[in-house]
Amino acid sequence: MKTIYWTSLCAASLLAAAAAARADEFSIKLKPGPGAEVAQAQCSACHSLDYILTNSPFPKRTVWDAEVNKMIKVFGATIEPNEAKTIIDYLAKEYGS
Ligand code: HEC
Repeated sequence: MKTIYWTSLCAASLLAAAAAARADEFSIKLKPGPGAEVAQAQCSACHSLDYILTNSPFPKRTVWDAEVNKMIKVFGATIEPNEAKTIIDYLAKEYGS
């Protein structure tokens, strides 16, 4: 009985910590600009937008192009081609060199 009590207590505090971490991640805002909202919505579905910030500045548009296409082809992101283009344009402009 005591073990069960401690287990659920630990689980509860882990959940609280995870929720706090998520709240931080979701408060990340991308730089404003055309396409920012699409990127914000589509690129935060599986991981934090932090991934974009820590991986920038990518040197070129081709690298962002490959990255977005990898999310779609390899990881199964459901992003329409026209939205992908908007996101790539946006990332290349705001987070490229
Ligand atoms: C379907 C889920 C999914 C979506 C949607 C998604 N990603 Fe990812 N992304 C992943 C996974 C899985 C990884 C690699 C595993 C990890 O490290 O967490 C990753 C990793 C990354 C990385 C780190 C470098 C790398 O290649 O591993 C970057 C940068 C990135 N994603 C950018 C984006 C951008 C930009 C978008 C929006 C176009 C996006 N992601 C949308 C699943 C996704």
